[in-house]
Amino acid sequence: MNDVRQIHLYFYCRNIKTHEKRMKNDLFILPAYRIVNRLAIDQVAERARLISGLRAQHATIEPKYFYDELGCALYAAICQLDEYYPTRTERAIFQDSRGEIAEAVGLGGTFVDLGAGDCCKAMSWLPHLQPSRYLAVDIAGPTMETSLANMAPEFPEIEMVGLVTDFSVQLELPADLVNDRTTLFYPGSSIGNFTPENAVKFLRQMRRYASNGLLIGVDAKKEKARLDAAYADALGVTAAFNLNALRHINREIGSDFVESRWKHVGQYNELLGRIEMHLESIAAQQVNIDGVARKFAAGERIHSENSYKYSEAEFMAMLHEAGFANVHVWTNSQRAFWVFWAT
Ligand code: AVI
Repeated sequence: MNDVRQIHLYFYCRNIKTHEKRMKNDLFILPAYRIVNRLAIDQVAERARLISGLRAQHATIEPKYFYDELGCALYAAICQLDEYYPTRTERAIFQDSRGEIAEAVGLGGTFVDLGAGDCCKAMSWLPHLQPSRYLAVDIAGPTMETSLANMAPEFPEIEMVGLVTDFSVQLELPADLVNDRTTLFYPGSSIGNFTPENAVKFLRQMRRYASNGLLIGVDAKKEKARLDAAYADALGVTAAFNLNALRHINREIGSDFVESRWKHVGQYNELLGRIEMHLESIAAQQVNIDGVARKFAAGERIHSENSYKYSEAEFMAMLHEAGFANVHVWTNSQRAFWVFWAT
């Protein structure tokens, strides 16, 4: 079903404070949110793409295979690691520059949260920006739905909508959910997971909808040692995140990858300005991929992710190339991460 799937009206109060507030005002508000499902996955094509990536001479998998339920939890754990600075650096920039950023963005309109996940990052902005509608967009419907259910009671004056869609290929927002004052929010440097060419294409797509502007977080180029540590942490959480993709793939296509026969590689490629994540075969082995044995030599790799890092000038140029005329940037004292406001 492709349209409005369900409207949830419920009497749930997440905490006593909210409950008391409602009772005191003698107003019984039914916090509401709705989910619009526009996820049209061509399972046959997806499967074929996955299989051909694994059989290719230089095997690849798409990063989306990281994000099953366990993978989402592992990513949340990564964001708490000492070595993984992007999340807390972006949060600190948001906190330190809250007033200035809020003034640039302005009040009201529709606030579109791309890759909303647990909606946490957007939640800190809602009281400051007071949009009339919050549109969370994510491919992972259940996680987003739980988050919206928790958030809705806190923001009864904001229309809460969750849009389930895969925007990594093409960003399509339903016309009735965006308006002439739409702010796009794309935090966390997820833009780094596109190639620069595709990133500009995606920025162009975002510009179509960003009638008010785009607020985007981008990781900065920095010394290799710090980047390497962020993607190969001492606890091995990023390794688990990478290896878990093999379990996910086994479930998807019935392959027989054994995680213990693979090791995680996460390194900064200075020449290309990107972190590369790979899964490296520990010994010569065979894996059954859709009924055909794929041989992997010892040391052979499956490329699982790129995470591009940009200088301020590089990303500024990409925003201009995508058609944004005015760009403002905030950073921290170490210039480790950028927050751009582009209109
Ligand atoms: C989601 N994305 C921005 C993360 C990144 O840093 O590129 C994914 C990630 N991969 C390993 N650690 C985190």
